[in-house]
Amino acid sequence: MRRPVLVLVLAIAAIGVFTAGLAWLLETPSPRPGASRAERLWVALCAECHGADGRGSWRATLFLIRPGDLTDAAAIGRQTDQYLFDIIKEGGSPIGRPGMPAFGAALKDEDIRALVAYLRGLGRAR
Ligand code: HEC
Repeated sequence: MRRPVLVLVLAIAAIGVFTAGLAWLLETPSPRPGASRAERLWVALCAECHGADGRGSWRATLFLIRPGDLTDAAAIGRQTDQYLFDIIKEGGSPIGRPGMPAFGAALKDEDIRALVAYLRGLGRAR
């Protein structure tokens, strides 16, 4: 094979491997079949930063976002439901923790309450 052709083929193969790897890395997990509404909301809205298991996504870390460990019973267990509800609804900025976005515009109160219960379950799971 002539050298330029070989270089072209290798370049195309390298791009293929790179994009496939990127797609594999960036693929978001999908909820289990038959998952509850809270779990589906969690996977769709929260897992990108907090990780599917609530311990924090390494992808968020890449962007210097530090969501902490929501399964840490010592930290989350002593928070009231009202605190967790408020930080999900209004975001962290009213209490000086701007990393956490507000979901009040996207979620109904009952969905937020369901997420609070789901969060508590994440802590118990381990
Ligand atoms: C853009 C990334 C991002 C997304 C999306 C996100 N969070 Fe957060 N969240 C954060 C960060 C960062 C913090 C920590 C803020 C701080 O301590 O300054 C946080 C904090 C929290 C806390 C408070 C933890 C504590 O120790 O007080 C709760 C509860 C929470 N998030 C729940 C959720 C839920 C539920 C969702 C989905 C509806 C969600 N988050 C979506 C980034 C995110």
